[in-house]
Amino acid sequence: MIAVIDFGSQYTQLIARRVRECHVYSEIFSCYTDINDIDKKSLEGLILSGGPNSVYHTRAKSFKHFFNLNVPILGICYGMQLAAQILGGKVRHSKKREYGHACISVRTSSIFSKCPKRFNVWMSHGDSVVKLPHGARIIAWTETTPIAAFQLGPVYCLQFHPEVHHTQFGFTIINNFLNKTCKAKRTWTINRFVQDEVRKIGKIVGDEKVICAVSGGIDSTVAAALTTKAIGDNLIGVFVDNGLLRMDEKEEVRSIISPRINLRVVNAKKRFLSRLLKVKSPERKRKIIGNEFIKIFEAEARKIKGIRYLVQGTLYPDVIESGKGIGPSAIIKSHHNVGGLPKKMRLKIIEPLRFLFKDEVRQIARVLKLPSSFIERKPFPGPGLAVRIVGPVTEKRLMLLRQADKILLEEARSIKKYKDIWQIFAVLLPLGSVGVMGDKRTYDSVCAIRAVYSEDGMTADWVRLPQEFLNRVSRRITNEVRGINRVVYDITSKPPSTIEWE
Ligand code: XMP
Repeated sequence: MIAVIDFGSQYTQLIARRVRECHVYSEIFSCYTDINDIDKKSLEGLILSGGPNSVYHTRAKSFKHFFNLNVPILGICYGMQLAAQILGGKVRHSKKREYGHACISVRTSSIFSKCPKRFNVWMSHGDSVVKLPHGARIIAWTETTPIAAFQLGPVYCLQFHPEVHHTQFGFTIINNFLNKTCKAKRTWTINRFVQDEVRKIGKIVGDEKVICAVSGGIDSTVAAALTTKAIGDNLIGVFVDNGLLRMDEKEEVRSIISPRINLRVVNAKKRFLSRLLKVKSPERKRKIIGNEFIKIFEAEARKIKGIRYLVQGTLYPDVIESGKGIGPSAIIKSHHNVGGLPKKMRLKIIEPLRFLFKDEVRQIARVLKLPSSFIERKPFPGPGLAVRIVGPVTEKRLMLLRQADKILLEEARSIKKYKDIWQIFAVLLPLGSVGVMGDKRTYDSVCAIRAVYSEDGMTADWVRLPQEFLNRVSRRITNEVRGINRVVYDITSKPPSTIEWE
């Protein structure tokens, strides 16, 4: 087992995920974990994550115990600086901060085996190691950072992030550490994950009935399928029509899900819309929606005797963006199924996918033999169109957005790029804009189109859509949707934006 120690990085789970991709089992621990909770017998190595703090502001020495475990260590970014500080080096705030791409040069070292002498890496730091610990050697440098990596015995430290997609040879570097330094056993596979989770769920739930929140999306369906494998017919799916769904979505979901599991459909449109009336703040919307969902699940659970558990298809990006990561991470937005949950809940939550990313969930869906049309479904956020209507949510604005989104999706499905696009959707802006139609002045709404490529929802780039396509969509929306007279295209990546507008 490789223990990944989380110091609050947005990328900690990406590290764990790269370790899984090398077929090595890993577990994430908070940096504040009691060291005795880590199973020393199976421990093959430690990876120290990045984090938002500076080692000279935090009590770095209080993490000294990680260095006494006598196993190989890989320190990444903050993890590197921590190692430097604890092992006798020095870290300073540097005048030349490095964010984004940097070109590094590397010395011969087992960690850079099969890497070229120079390649591009992803940096994100304001502090730098300025003095090495005694006996350490520099193994990589960039123009602005003379100590971009160092080695001291079995401790390897990198200022850049090998776990992110943008670092060339990042996977090779992590694989080298696991293989050459830790000599870690390669026993982890998706099949094994499925077996382990099914066993765990069975053990928790026993013969009891549970309810599962289903939305028709891949995450909740995979969570339901895993649970069904463990407990069979004792799983009852609950689908909530919250009035924030896309055109014809309720019927589509019913037809996909009801042949597979025992499904209850709850009509809660009025309830959600009345709670959202006049609410503008995105965080308030998310919290209200998360709360209403739980109240409905609890009410449904009360109708069936003895229900104690609720299964949710929460994924890791939902957890980390809601600021509920294992270490001290920042809140980006409260995902409805994590940060939107009320403090007091009667139901206990089971989240078998909580530490995985969407593409890993797709792999599980393949193992579980779910149909491919379903595996390729694009993500849709739990708070639905409420986070795609900037400003207050009303029936009228929902109808405008549904019509525009339907046209966009009809057109999108006919282009070649569609299968590679992560998400493509319309957003209704809180703006009036002047137009002219049939010689008459109009003062109508503006609709934005968002289309992104992403690997896991954590970072994203906007899609260079064909101009002809954009033209067709814009013409159809302004002609066919009464109430929208302007269409704009969103050309921002994540970061600095997020995928959804709210
Ligand atoms: P953002 O907007 O944070 O979204 O870049 C990343 C991915 O997550 C989806 N998303 C959500 N999914 N509940 C969900 O189930 C939520 O509250 C939520 N917010 C965003 C979003 O569609 C994208 O794929």
